[in-house]
Amino acid sequence: MKIKIYLENKRQQVEDALHKYILLPSDPFKEHIEAMRYSLFAGGKRLRPILCLAAAATIDNTSKVEASLMPTACALECIHTYSLIHDDLPAMDDDDLRRGKPTNHTLFGEAGAILAGDSLLTWAFDLLSQTEITSLPPERQISIIKTISRGAGPLGMVGGQALDIANENKAFPFDTLQTIHRNKTGALILCSIQAGALGAGATADKVDKLTIYGKKIGLSFQIVDDLLNATATTEQLGKAAGSDKDRGKATYPAFFGVEESRRLAKQAVKSAKDALEDFDHRADPLRALADYICTRSN
Ligand code: IPE
Ligand code: IPE
Ligand code: MG
Ligand code: MG
Repeated sequence: MKIKIYLENKRQQVEDALHKYILLPSDPFKEHIEAMRYSLFAGGKRLRPILCLAAAATIDNTSKVEASLMPTACALECIHTYSLIHDDLPAMDDDDLRRGKPTNHTLFGEAGAILAGDSLLTWAFDLLSQTEITSLPPERQISIIKTISRGAGPLGMVGGQALDIANENKAFPFDTLQTIHRNKTGALILCSIQAGALGAGATADKVDKLTIYGKKIGLSFQIVDDLLNATATTEQLGKAAGSDKDRGKATYPAFFGVEESRRLAKQAVKSAKDALEDFDHRADPLRALADYICTRSN
């Protein structure tokens, strides 16, 4: 599986769909919509939408199913982008660089950035509820909405962000570190995969196996994010390197050191791929994505 070509093709498809589904700047909300679009189109790997589409393809790899999940995939990217805008705010991680560009608040001001994030989140659910463009059966669409709301909300991503901030500069037990990672990053990755599986009509057994896969790659993804923060350069990452240490963040390298963190990231990827044992060749993109997540350089 040529993962680079696969990722580039899917990224382009998601990019085109985002352009189709996101609002165009027009009065009276022109500047506000421009702030939303600025971060959404600032780059980004589009991994959550791609994971959603790849999970669906393990069940049904027809273009009809892919098209029906594209609004869901775009909604996931809107939620992810909102989380990054808020994550970078002075009250949170206080970062000036994201996706190789100035962060939203440095251009649109703090209020502008908070509101751009608010609207990306709300717009995501607008997209998710448009059954006329998804053509998914309403009960499937509702289960997708429920799954994504859970993953993105207080018992998932936002809860994890709250714990991440609350544990800055503290001696943290392993339990806390795990809970932070599972939620702030793992939860949105997991629900992206589950949404794809549900949209494609996966059986409960397949959803369970994809859930194990999703939890493991979510963990690996954040360990690698922590490792890159500790070992890569700002130019390479397009966001500030070394910032976790400066802010006293609860990270894997801080707890286990670099080498052991690398081993744990690899171990999680192996468990993720093991969970796909019963899947056929249509799960090859997910297998390759697991490896990519662990070996990526930004
Ligand atoms: C970065 O996510 C933030 C985390 C949740 C760790 P990505 O590495 O997927 O960021 P983009 O979307 O490619 O910029
Ligand atoms: C970001 O985590 C998680 C969310 C935005 C939900 P980090 O703060 O560790 O990620 P980066 O390093 O800023 O991308
Ligand atoms: Mg953060
Ligand atoms: Mg951050």
